Amino acid sequence: MLTTDKELEAITETLARDGYAVIPNFINKATCAALAAEGRQQIDAGMLKMAGVGQGSEHSLRDEIRSDHILWLDDSNAAPLQKQYLNLLETYRQEVNRQLFLGIFEFEGHLALYPPGSFYKRHLDRFRDDDRRTVTAILYLNEEWKEEDGGQLRFYPNGESVDEYIDVLPEAGTLVTFLSHDYWHEVLPGSRERMSITGWFKRR
Ligand code: OGA
Ligand code: MN
Repeated sequence: MLTTDKELEAITETLARDGYAVIPNFINKATCAALAAEGRQQIDAGMLKMAGVGQGSEHSLRDEIRSDHILWLDDSNAAPLQKQYLNLLETYRQEVNRQLFLGIFEFEGHLALYPPGSFYKRHLDRFRDDDRRTVTAILYLNEEWKEEDGGQLRFYPNGESVDEYIDVLPEAGTLVTFLSHDYWHEVLPGSRERMSITGWFKRR
């Protein structure tokens, strides 16, 4: 997938130093177009479900909080390039463990589709009753995303403070990765369909 170990090492160094990293062109455009085509087939096949919030007995559909549709990816349903991308994340996981000693063993990830107008309100990637999610990795698959299309990831780099934020366009190939417990973030409503592959590395 054309991302070298050296690049993963540098990204992980940034994660270790800053707690987050935003990497444009992490995956090249041609590969992203092919990943988007795989996602499109799964969408058209009706494989995605309305996403919920919370976990276990606390899980519920709350479309005032989030309104995206998702497909959890695993070996049984991931398409070929999606599997390659998951393999690349496995290499990233090993590098993160090597540099940050986080002891992350598991991965869970999903394809996400935000139809026009959908959003995900400000949140942390941690459930109230389960703090195993440790590192988040989001890859966007949308070509030629413009500022006026909306749909930015609004990322708050200073804890609870809302005064400072970084807006990331969900442009094809951009990877955002951060320590899941430490950063509030949200998805602003957009006027275009927005596709991504989002995953979490988990402690046991
Ligand atoms: C999430 C999330 C952000 C994005 O799925 O938890 O915050 O930019 N996604 O898609
Ligand atoms: Mn999130």
